[in-house]
Parts: sequence; structure tokens; C-alpha cells
Amino acid sequence: MNDVAELRYNGKTYKLPVIAGSEGEKAIDISRLRAESGMITMDYGFANTGSCTSNITFMDGEKGVLRYCGIPVEQLAEKATFKETAYLLINGHLPNRRQLTDFSVLLNDHSLVHEDMKIFYQNFPRASHPMGILSAMVNALRSFYPALHESEEEINITVTRLLAKVRTMAAMSYKISLGHTVVYPRPDLAYCENFLNMMFDSPVRPYQLKPEVIKALRVFWILHADHEQNCSTAAVRVVGSSRANLYAAISAGIAALWGPLHGGANQAVIEMLTQIQKNNGDFKSAIGRAKDRNDPFRLMGFGHRVYKTYDPRAKIMKKVCDDLLGALSIQDPLLDLAVELEEAALKDPYFIDHNLYPNVDFYSGIVLRAIGIPTNMFTVMFAIGRLPGWIAQWKESMDDPNWKISRPRQVYIGETLHDFVPIDDRE
Ligand code: ACO
Repeated sequence: MNDVAELRYNGKTYKLPVIAGSEGEKAIDISRLRAESGMITMDYGFANTGSCTSNITFMDGEKGVLRYCGIPVEQLAEKATFKETAYLLINGHLPNRRQLTDFSVLLNDHSLVHEDMKIFYQNFPRASHPMGILSAMVNALRSFYPALHESEEEINITVTRLLAKVRTMAAMSYKISLGHTVVYPRPDLAYCENFLNMMFDSPVRPYQLKPEVIKALRVFWILHADHEQNCSTAAVRVVGSSRANLYAAISAGIAALWGPLHGGANQAVIEMLTQIQKNNGDFKSAIGRAKDRNDPFRLMGFGHRVYKTYDPRAKIMKKVCDDLLGALSIQDPLLDLAVELEEAALKDPYFIDHNLYPNVDFYSGIVLRAIGIPTNMFTVMFAIGRLPGWIAQWKESMDDPNWKISRPRQVYIGETLHDFVPIDDRE
């Protein structure tokens, strides 16, 4: 045992191994603590708890660093395609030309969705939220396509099915919600182009693909592709730890992402900005409410569990937003409002003292609006982007030699032992 931490309690000393990551992060390994001391640790929201070691994503929340398999996200956003980024996360290395071609062929081959699945879509109430539908439909995929886990090749097929079909299913759900004809994927279009075409093409108004829009979507998806052990990824790993199938694990990830404190924040930001706009642009009272401890309101798109500085993704997203709106000559009053709100919050002592900065969701909604994505589909867009990360993390957890079913402990604070009272004797 090289590096150890010591815990002293009740006159006894417990030696706990310290493990270090490749970027110098350290963790106290408490896996023998209960067996040796009878005690567990308590960590609300797992804010100080590592649940695994991982080769996939590195974040430094103090410095605002994000890398996928060692490559800075800034470089990927500038130079990579989303498909290459997905391959990188899932396989741990960038694809060569042959590997990328094989991957593209597989994605194309698996991009159709079983025709019977359309019936499911048609039976959801019209007002259903697309995230609820997507989570249910991904779970339902298991009934149409078995989860193949036996060999490397079989796992690749299940993984590719998900990557290819979820994109088709998202566009399909939008078309069906409008009562429009479903647009099928095309083999001649790349990943982002294909999605845009399935969303917006129509027999009466052919969709014109624009390079600026394709670029914005590519960067949006790359920035969302993984973010180590966030709430939805943790959900995927927890469900996967019971050896439930991959579709069920991803369905759980989608459900976790839906929440407004996580991926649902991109929708919540636009709703918040729209509300401020209705209040004659009074962003100061929104800041006042966010600071008020007696008011549950929070500034959506601000703050992050890990980043205590500017979210590196938010910086890139702001640039994408400026470039896209400029290229499309769009004047979005919500962007002006967002800029004013950000400037005021960053100067405010409350936000400075609490290290609260814009996160990826602050500007992403404005980008999605400019692309033409309806607000209730924003978090679905996030889910498509996060899919490679969820899959990569699930795969890694399946091969982890330290794998255990996820099963946290608790400290019971309820009633102590007392006898059952028959119903007639109760008050
Ligand atoms: N507005 C106002 N105050 C905030 C905000 C905010 N957006 N975020 C955190 N705070 C305050 C809290 O009130 C708390 O103050 P206190 O210490 O005085 O009580 C302090 O900052 C710490 O907040 P926690 O909730 O403990 O931080 P945590 O790490 O648990 O939460 C979270 C992180 C959920 C992202 C939080 O910042 C938040 O709710 N933000 C708004 C929602 C949002 O934008 N979510 C998207 C996150 S990015 C993503 O998931 C893709």
C-alpha cells in the first residue's frame, strides 16, 4: 500500500488506500471501511463520491477543462465530425478512414425504425412531452430488437442500432406530433444532415440544408457527447449495474436527463427568458429572485456541480450562437436578453461568491431556436448528443473488473421497534 489516508474514530485508526488518476486526481478508497469499522460514509447527492475509474472523459471544474479520451473538446468542436466523436468515445480512439467507413455503413444500415413502432407514436396523447415518449420508445426497442451482448460484434450492432435509430425516432416523433408524413433517413446524407432533413423536409417544401446550420448542430452534439458521471450517465450505469439490457439503461438516462436541473435546463432557459421578456425585459428581478433563499427560483442555465468557473462548452456555444444568428441574419431578442442577464449576473456578488457561471444550456436553446427546433424538443436534442457518452460509459462499466451492482447504503432515522396495532385498537 503506497499512499494511505488515516481515519481515527473511537481510539482506532483505519488505514484507507489513496488512488490517483492519470491527471493527478486523488480518491480515498473506502470499499473496506464498513467491513473494518461498521461505519458507512454519508455524501448527499454524491458530491464527493467517485463511483468508478474511467478512461473516457476528463474534467477539471476549477480550470474549466473538458477532454474526451484526452482530446480537448475545443479541438473536437473545431475539427471533428459528430460521428468521429461518437466513435472516439465508444472505442477510445479516433477512427481511421476504413473504421469510419465501416461505422458509417453500419449506421446507415440500422437507421430505419420498425414500421410497427409508428403505431406506438400515434397512440401517445398529443400533448405528451417528447422526452417521455423517447424514454418509453427506447425501452420498447428491446421488444423489437434483442439486446445482443455475447460478442464484440454483437455489442457493436446493438450500439449502432441505438445511435442510428434514436436520431430517426426523434425526428419521427416530431413529424407524427404535427400529423405530417414521416421522412425516412437517406443514405447519401451524413449524420447531422440526415437528422435535419428528417425533421424539416416535406413533400410540399423541400428542406434546404445550410452549412451554417449543419455546423451549429454538429458542434451542439459534440459539446453534449459526454460529461463523465453526471446525473443521467450515473443513471445509465446504475441501471446497467443490475445487468438490465442496454436499451433499458439508456431509457433511464433519458428520463434522468429530462429534469430541469439537468438536460431539461435548455428548455427551462428559453421559458425563463420568455417570461422575463413578457415582464418588459426586467432581468434584474429574476436575479433578485434567484438570490432570495426563500424563493425556489434559480437562474436556469447557471451553475454547475463540477465547474466553478465558466463552463468551456458555454464559451463555444455562445460563439456558435453569434455565428449562426449572424449567418442566418436572425435578430433574436432572447439573445440580447441572455447577454444582458449574463453580464449582470457575472458582476453580482452573490453569483461571484457562489462561483455561478453560465453552463452549456444557457445559450444552447437560442441556437436550437435558430435551427428551427421546437422548444419541447430541446432536451431530445441533448439526448441524441449524449447517446455516445451513455453508451461508452455503459460499455466501460460492463468490462470493469471492479464492477458491482450499485446499491448505496443509508442511515435509518425512522421509528424504532414497536408492535403492530390491530385496526380496531388504533386511534
Ligand atoms: N441560481 C441561483 N442560485 C444557485 C444556482 C442558480 N442557478 N445554482 C446554484 N445556486 C446556489 C444554491 O442556491 C446554493 O446556495 P447556498 O450555498 O447559499 O445555499 C449554492 O449555489 C450551491 O448550489 P447547489 O444546489 O448545492 O449546487 P449543486 O452542485 O448541487 O447544483 C445545479 C448544481 C443543479 C446545476 C445548480 O447550479 C442549478 O440548479 N442550476 C440551474 C439549473 C441548470 O442550469 N442546470 C443545468 C446544469 S448543466 C447540465 O446538467 C447539462
